[in-house]
Amino acid sequence: MNSSLTTKPLAQVETPLLAVALVAGGELPASLTELDRAAGGVVARALASGDFKGKRDEMLLLYPTAGTAQRLLLVGVGKAAEVTRTALRRAAAVAGKRARTLGATTFAFAVAPESRNDVSARDLGQVVAEGAAHGAWIFNEFKQLSNDEPRREVAAVDLVVDAKESKDAEAGRQLGAAIAAGAHLARTLQMEPGNVCTPRYLAERAVQLGKTHGFTVTVLDLAAIKKEGMGALLAVAQGSQQEPRFIALEYTGAGDAAPLALLGKGVTFDSGGISIKPSQNMEDMKYDMSGAAAVLGTFEVLGRLKPKLNVIGLIPSTENLPSGSAVKPGDVVKSHLGKTIEIVNTDAEGRLILCDALSYARRYKPAAALDAATLTGAVSIALGSQAIGLMGNDETLIAEVRDAGERAGERCWPLPLWDEYRDLVKSEIADVKNSGGRGAGTIAGGWFLREFVEGYPWVHLDIAGTAYTEGEGPHQVKGPTAIGVRLFTEFLLRRAGA
Ligand code: BES
Ligand code: MN
Ligand code: ZN
Repeated sequence: MNSSLTTKPLAQVETPLLAVALVAGGELPASLTELDRAAGGVVARALASGDFKGKRDEMLLLYPTAGTAQRLLLVGVGKAAEVTRTALRRAAAVAGKRARTLGATTFAFAVAPESRNDVSARDLGQVVAEGAAHGAWIFNEFKQLSNDEPRREVAAVDLVVDAKESKDAEAGRQLGAAIAAGAHLARTLQMEPGNVCTPRYLAERAVQLGKTHGFTVTVLDLAAIKKEGMGALLAVAQGSQQEPRFIALEYTGAGDAAPLALLGKGVTFDSGGISIKPSQNMEDMKYDMSGAAAVLGTFEVLGRLKPKLNVIGLIPSTENLPSGSAVKPGDVVKSHLGKTIEIVNTDAEGRLILCDALSYARRYKPAAALDAATLTGAVSIALGSQAIGLMGNDETLIAEVRDAGERAGERCWPLPLWDEYRDLVKSEIADVKNSGGRGAGTIAGGWFLREFVEGYPWVHLDIAGTAYTEGEGPHQVKGPTAIGVRLFTEFLLRRAGA
């Protein structure tokens, strides 16, 4: 989806749909009087009726009797004092989704100045570009066209701003557009089913991305993974007909400065393996490569924005399936780091493939490493779908990542990796075991990974509760969320001093 800016007065914007974000409060804001007059008084009448209260996610569709907008959409953003980047991004998403369901191929979006609180013009441009694309997103690659339901997508959003703010808003819009493109890639990869999105396919997409934007992508195939000694990744892959891949992306924008490393879990389908999952909703386990999608989406953003920093992306990718050759509960394998692992549960496979990636990361001497993984169902029990579970070995980095998450509207909440929890992954037969049983499941996953982090500050993001939604929302369709792309980007750009 494209985005652009216009500095026309609201009353003169020609569009099939003009969405206006408004705070709770009732009265017609002064900034809308001209628009209201041009539209035949329909906005004032709607507000006077009390039918629109301005609550978050609230919508009222109006058909003006005159003027240049065919339709008007009032979108609520909640209380004036509580309006943030996140609230405006969400309002743009609500509008984007409504534009799509209405069949509008373009729409205009404005925030009444009275409804903006202290959000800057730059931030406004960014979050509207992000939000509108997020809300309008739909995946129909595998559906046949029908006559009564033509494939119509929202092609563009036009953000209406005051001329004196257009420079800042445009800078923000460009940033938001790059992030939207990254999120689009991530969501598409997430959505694609396991028979399409295989480890080999993910690797091909990474190579393509490298070609498009000019960064180095290295792919290790089965033989190379064996040679590298990634015994934990190999153990997960050995039950599957599809070969694993280990993907390394290298974006260089700052000479020989120490890079930042992004790692993403790339399990293209997780059946649980021999510790097989119940069949209910098992199809959702195609989303088990959402961490990998977040990394690739972020590289799309890097390719477009070309910030001054170095970034490494590492994606271990495999299926997790049961078969006669699959790894069995109780098997002991040797990891890339050299530590031995007792695999007590073959469904705790994400940490197995990531531990080898964390060990591989040492060669880059990263200034910091962030991993994103749909690691545990337990994180949804703890935090639901509102927050990413965050753990790490460095308090400063943890605070930095949390802050990036707040700006991105991809919020993180910390869980403790106290020494006492380390016992969860102690094994009687090997150096560590891959599952700690029922209690503190997300922390056990975090501690397992920590056993393989040597020599760099690290944060682990458990995105199992946030990577996809099980139902439809006012601002997005059911399914993949591209979680991580915005957070990673905010983190990286702040590090680049942008
Ligand atoms: N991919 C799953 C985690 C998951 C569950 C993601 C639900 C999204 C929704 C992961 O590989 C897994 O199976 N984890 C186990 C760990 C356990 C065996 C220690 C889990 O959460 O049950
Ligand atoms: Mn699993
Ligand atoms: Zn998994």
